Amino acid sequence: MKKEKNNSPSIVMIGSGNVGTQLGKRLQKRGQNVIQVFSRKAEKAEKLAKAIDSKWTNDLSKVIPNADLYIFAVHDDFIDDVAAELAKVIDAKSLVTHTSGATPSTVFKPYFERYGVFYPLQTFNINKRPAWSKIPVCLFSSEAADMKLLKSIANKISNKVYTLNDEQRGIAHVAAVFANNFSNHVFAVANNILKKEDLPFDLIRPLILETAEKIRNDEPGNMQTGPAIRGDEETIERHLNYLEKFEDWKEIYKLMTEQIKKYHL
Ligand SMILES: NC(=O)c1ccc[n+]([C@@H]2O[C@H](COP(=O)([O-])OP(=O)(O)OC[C@H]3O[C@@H](n4cnc5c(N)ncnc54)[C@H](OP(=O)(O)O)[C@@H]3O)[C@@H](O)[C@H]2O)c1
Repeated sequence: MKKEKNNSPSIVMIGSGNVGTQLGKRLQKRGQNVIQVFSRKAEKAEKLAKAIDSKWTNDLSKVIPNADLYIFAVHDDFIDDVAAELAKVIDAKSLVTHTSGATPSTVFKPYFERYGVFYPLQTFNINKRPAWSKIPVCLFSSEAADMKLLKSIANKISNKVYTLNDEQRGIAHVAAVFANNFSNHVFAVANNILKKEDLPFDLIRPLILETAEKIRNDEPGNMQTGPAIRGDEETIERHLNYLEKFEDWKEIYKLMTEQIKKYHL
């Protein structure tokens, strides 16, 4: 069947990992015009391209020039390298963006005149469809016309579109690492403790969900419970005794207990 003409801005997705895949699918679902997917691995590029009815390549030199927007969804540390390579293929006036929270937009400056950021502030997995309409999409470009283009696209995929400069986005990313990466690591520690004692993770799953649910309408500082905030020293002592056999986790427990006491008592 012949593909219908799409008058939306043309987009090339560079990368087909967690973000490239989920963002590509969302853009396509909301009628946006993803014309090509690039991945170093042909099978990955082809898989995403098939899902979103676009072209694909695993050869950076074959990336389509003259697209309205290039979105880099590659590892933070390789944005610079990929930009340098792509600059040999597409015009320096092309609008390039990345999806990284921590990387300044100026990573593109040595290679491109028009650049920005299209950062969806959420945790993504290639196999789990995100609730896109609620995901904050943090945009940046120093050019008003480019910002307008980015906003027009972001507004199609989410109801929460923000403008954050590089510094603001970097700070939001630090907060996100605490809120998501660190809390998930602590969930993993809890899971491992239960596993070692042959107890099911289901014992604490409702607790984790309730903890997140409670902050829907209030600040986390108001929601703290547990032995540290109550000052139940005997309970803390019992926990530390149990944790003697897990030296690293005991360190985390001590540090967290001190922090909760310091900021709440
Ligand atoms: N995951 C998240 O929760 C999340 C959330 C918000 C923003 N981000 C940001 O989104 C970007 C992508 O993250 P991700 O989680 O999607 O990563 P990912 O799933 O690991 O995918 C990374 C992509 O980078 C490509 N890549 C890696 N090294 C490369 C290189 N040397 N040259 C060209 N391509 C290379 C990989 O290409 P191949 O397919 O060729 O291997 C893959 O498509 C990062 O900037 C990250 O900070 C991630």
